[in-house]
Amino acid sequence: MSSKSALLETDSLTKRYGRFVAVSDLSISFYDNEICAIIGPNGAGKTTLFNLITGGTSSSDGRVIFNGTDITDLDPHEIAREGLIRSFQITNVFEDLTVSENLQVALLSNRTQFDVWNKINKMDSVSERSIEILERVGLAEQRDKPASQLGHGDQRMLELAVTLGKEPDMLLLDEPSSGMSSAETAEMVDIIGNIGEDIPVVLVEHKMGLVKSVADRLLVLHNGELLAEGDPETVRNNEQVQRVYLNSSPE
Ligand SMILES: Nc1ncnc2c1ncn2[C@@H]1O[C@H](COP(=O)(O)OP(=O)(O)OP(=O)(O)O)[C@@H](O)[C@H]1O
Ligand SMILES: [Mg+2]
Repeated sequence: MSSKSALLETDSLTKRYGRFVAVSDLSISFYDNEICAIIGPNGAGKTTLFNLITGGTSSSDGRVIFNGTDITDLDPHEIAREGLIRSFQITNVFEDLTVSENLQVALLSNRTQFDVWNKINKMDSVSERSIEILERVGLAEQRDKPASQLGHGDQRMLELAVTLGKEPDMLLLDEPSSGMSSAETAEMVDIIGNIGEDIPVVLVEHKMGLVKSVADRLLVLHNGELLAEGDPETVRNNEQVQRVYLNSSPE
């Protein structure tokens, strides 16, 4: 792995809140063509790590490099423009807009849609692209419904569609299946596996069982530190990981 150059890399990344260290001296790398899952119990620092990487939270120390660019001090919208796109642990869609409109907002605001002279072609390509993405996440038939009328699982799918509409070079997904039924979760895992064939994905999840089938590599965070790293089987068999998960089942 070390001979391959990283697409996204943190170097001694640290976040302190007073004396409490939420993310501690983390130097980790993520690569092109992989689905990587970050797992760890509640409070391990997973969301804080995403917030540090995508600019929502400023770091106390350390750097973040994406695609060869130092993005440590950039604002969230500048980081998104670099092609690093995230989703949130809490569902975040425009409830009054329809499913398609939610996606069109993302498509119209993304970085490759600057050709204002070609508005008609642009609207055609936006609506074609939006259908393509909605089909990919299984929402095409519900495209004219207001997002508020979707069930929770479908709202999470819509959020995933919106992140795809932003034309990511890499996707960071924070517990995309939170609050979903087990059938919806299985569908989400399948869709993430399919997306991962074209776009590198970093997925946060606290249940190991959900990610072991889809992730090429797991990183385990505990108390803001990297506890273990490797393929799902190696990580599952790691004694320290088993100890951390003893009271909160990894399944
Ligand atoms: N703004 C803040 N001020 C103080 N402490 C914070 C702040 N944000 C997060 N923390 C603390 O940092 C730690 C890591 O939180 P974080 O949300 O990153 O965990 P997580 O791994 O995403 O957990 P979960 O699985 O519950 O989503 C927690 O102990 C949390 O209470
Ligand atoms: Mg979290």
